[in-house]
Amino acid sequence: MNNRNISGAKNFHVQNTVKKIEGPIFIGRTWSEYLKMFDLKEDDLVNGRILDCAAGASSFTAEMTKQGYDVVALDILYNEDPDELIDKYRSHMKVLIEGLTSVNNFVWNFFSDVEDLKEKRDDACREFIEDYRKQQSKRYIKADLNNLPFPDNSFSIVLCSHLLFIYDHRLKYTFHLNTIKEMLRVTSKEVRIYPLVKNKGLKSDFVTRIIKDLQDVDIKIVKVDYEFRKDSNEMMRIIKI
Ligand SMILES: C[S@@+](CC[C@H](N)C(=O)[O-])C[C@H]1O[C@@H](n2cnc3c(N)ncnc32)[C@H](O)[C@@H]1O
Repeated sequence: MNNRNISGAKNFHVQNTVKKIEGPIFIGRTWSEYLKMFDLKEDDLVNGRILDCAAGASSFTAEMTKQGYDVVALDILYNEDPDELIDKYRSHMKVLIEGLTSVNNFVWNFFSDVEDLKEKRDDACREFIEDYRKQQSKRYIKADLNNLPFPDNSFSIVLCSHLLFIYDHRLKYTFHLNTIKEMLRVTSKEVRIYPLVKNKGLKSDFVTRIIKDLQDVDIKIVKVDYEFRKDSNEMMRIIKI
């Protein structure tokens, strides 16, 4: 794995009471979580291509493709062999689950309990890996978010979940700003980012800085029907004007 990364992700890790994860955290979410996190409606999906940035082991792209939509996933680890990614996913999930049992910072609505959470994460990873094995070079692009390998206005919507804001203690503000500008460059319409909170349900300070620093866009903070981390039921829509 290439650890050289201008995002500051070199020493990116999650520390909990049990262990820490070195390097990018490789897990993923299901298609139905994506629809809720990003408040995606049929109108959003039908008109053009969608890019899922920092997609990890999520099944959104695989599931959307099965349904006939045009979706591309991008992640810094997508040069890796599928079996290496499975190992990474398993070991990262183990650490995260061990950490969860000692942290009360979560709302158990979408998931009934830890077992249910693990099952859904595993389902997402299984569906992702199946598609990645077949179509790695076609719709799973290895790239750094700071430098997206697409021409301007290539996608109608660009999504990014569980990387920006949530790890603001690891990823610098300049990385956030550059990444969002880069995502705006490759979309013709809008960028959606979820969640806006970091640890303990606190909103990242970077949210107000981004709102202040971005020019020529309309930014809306939208309530969404998804909250696993406490107070994480908000998403940022950045619409080009
Ligand atoms: C916690 S996972 C989130 C995955 C998925 N979006 C979700 O919500 O479950 C973060 C992902 O960001 C990727 N990542 C970290 N730094 C990156 C960068 N600079 N450029 C592209 N992807 C990056 C990691 O490899 C990892 O798959």
